[in-house]
Parts: sequence; structure tokens; C-alpha cells
Amino acid sequence: MRFLKKGDDKKGDDKKPKSQPESEPKGHPDLKVISGSQISGRQPQQQPPPQQQQPQPQSQQQNITLPNIKYKIAVASGKGGVGKSTVATNLAISLANAGGAVGLMDADAYGPSIPTMMGVQEQPKVSPERKLIPLVRHNIKLMSIGFMVPEEQAMIWRGPMLHSSIRQLLSDVEWGELDYLIIDLPPGTGDVALSLTQAIPLTGALIVTTPQDVALADVRRGVAMFERLGVPILGIIENMSYFLCPHCNEKTEIFRKDGGKNTSERFGVAFLGQIPLDAEVCTAGDLGVPIVAGHPESPQSEAFGTVAQELETVLEESGDDDELTIL
Ligand SMILES: Nc1ncnc2c1ncn2[C@@H]1O[C@H](COP(=O)(O)OP(=O)(O)OP(=O)(O)O)[C@@H](O)[C@H]1O
Ligand SMILES: [Mg+2]
Repeated sequence: MRFLKKGDDKKGDDKKPKSQPESEPKGHPDLKVISGSQISGRQPQQQPPPQQQQPQPQSQQQNITLPNIKYKIAVASGKGGVGKSTVATNLAISLANAGGAVGLMDADAYGPSIPTMMGVQEQPKVSPERKLIPLVRHNIKLMSIGFMVPEEQAMIWRGPMLHSSIRQLLSDVEWGELDYLIIDLPPGTGDVALSLTQAIPLTGALIVTTPQDVALADVRRGVAMFERLGVPILGIIENMSYFLCPHCNEKTEIFRKDGGKNTSERFGVAFLGQIPLDAEVCTAGDLGVPIVAGHPESPQSEAFGTVAQELETVLEESGDDDELTIL
């Protein structure tokens, strides 16, 4: 995928192949979609695709600076389905409710869920400067590959296209002035995280986990990846920590108790809080109105609010990026 840039014109179009493979993603009419081989052909200055490189600390790689965004924070996990996107959306809204200017970037090209969870399916407009204008919902600026590429096609990215699309979601989007850019990553320790850390100096990463041992083994892998990339871990968030009975408010720990907390102690990183397992959290995401937006007074929303406060504390205490823990 390649977004239109200033100066793109018919001449540029001539360089397009006469026919593209049918499997190439199509989507936004104002965006060009080109193959990975073209990307490297037309942009020789660009980094080679990440899978051909050895991971290196981010400071040696990135060249998109985004100076108007104070904190650039990736939400990651070693394992799928632990609630990264749920946490990213509700955390973003909690930070906005606390007065922050917040953007949310969906970097999950394989299964973008931010459009559904935030209740937006429109295509973004393009500014006169040929930059994509983020959609705004629940007071958050949003950008997702899911806005441009039909859902069923989002699964077929080639490595170089993925790399290029992540860079363009950062540099070809009119993010404006933000306190926080929350970046929702796909599960695991793959190409997207690598592309992201090669593109921008991340303030740090948040690791989402569930309390049981099998998920925590994946946390260790996620932490190890960011360690290799030189990205500070801002903290661990334990999702689906307990079930809160809607009738008597009794807490039931369905999975293991305090796994995320214990792991954070072991790694010496901040524990930012526990989010209850709750049908309302799930339903709210499916309906496109995250629980913090729809029911800000609920105990579930309070839990997200606590995580947002803890994150603010970690960021304030760090003073500047250099003081954050690189494990
Ligand atoms: N605290 C919670 N209580 C109830 N349901 C939850 C909670 N957190 C997440 N879910 C539900 O679990 C499912 C997976 O959550 P989500 O999509 O946020 O996970 P993910 O880690 O982003 O997944 P993926 O790895 O596929 O990107 C969703 O249906 C979501 O609504
Ligand atoms: Mg997700």
C-alpha cells in the first residue's frame, strides 16, 4: 500500500504496472496500492523489509520523528486475544477523559479491530497537502489500515507492503498535536512491531496479558523482543483478571491470581492495573462504543481509568524518555 504524496501525478501513475495481481489489496480510492517489489523499486532510500534484517535497537533505525506527538506508546502482547485492542481503545478514551489529546493507530494489518471497536467504518479524507485526515470518534483521532482495505483483504499483506504501510500510517497522516499516540499492535513478536520500532522513536510499550501461566510465558517473549529493540517497557496490564458479579460485586478469580502483577515484579517494571472480565466490556467493543465511552461510571471503566492514571504517573516520573527502563 502506498498513500498519495504531494507531487504524485499521472507521470507517477505511468510507473504502475499495467496489471496488478488480483490478490493485491484494493481500497481507498485516493490511495495507491502497489506491490512490495515496486515499493523497493520506487523508494530506493527506504529500509529493506524487516525480515531481511537483524533487529537493532530502535535508536539506530527510526527516521520518522513526529515531534508534535509527546508520547508514542505501543500496546502489545506475546499472545493473541488477550485484549490488546480492548485495552488500547478504552485506555485511549480514559486518557482523553483526563484531558489528553489522543490518537489511536491500528497497526494490526492482519485483523484490524479498531474500526469495529470505535464504531467507525468510513474512509478517511485526504487533505490538500495529500495527507490522510484521521477520523474522530469518542474524542480520539483514529487511523487504521481497516479504513482503507476491505476486511477480507487485510490478511494478505506481503512483508514489504506491511512495512511501508506502517510507516505511512505514521508519516502520511495528519495527526496534529497529540499528547498520546496509542498504537495497537497485532499479537506476537513479528514484523509489525519491528517495522514500528524502525520507523519512530517509541516512548515505550505496554504489555497486555491475562493472569494465567501460559499467557505469562508469552509476556516474557514480548518483553524480550522490546528489550532487543531497545524499547522501554512502560508497564504490564492484566486483563480478564477477575469476574465481578453484577449482583453482589463479589470478585471471582477465574484464571490464576495476580500473574501479571508477579511477572511485572519479576521484570522490575510497573504494574499498571487489572481489568475485570466482564460481558459488558465485550459487548461494548462489538457495538462500537467502548465501555469507557458508554458507561464511564462503571467499575470496569474505573479500572481502565486507574490504568490511565498509573501510565501518566510512569510517564511523569520518567521525566524524559532516557529515564525509562530499558530492560
Ligand atoms: N476484560 C474483558 N472482558 C470481557 N471480554 C473481553 C475483555 N477484554 C477483551 N475481551 C473480549 O475478548 C476478545 C478479544 O479481545 P481483543 O480483540 O481486544 O484482543 P486482542 O489481544 O486485541 O486480539 P488480537 O490478538 O486478535 O488482536 C474480544 O471479543 C473482546 O471484546
Ligand atoms: Mg487486537
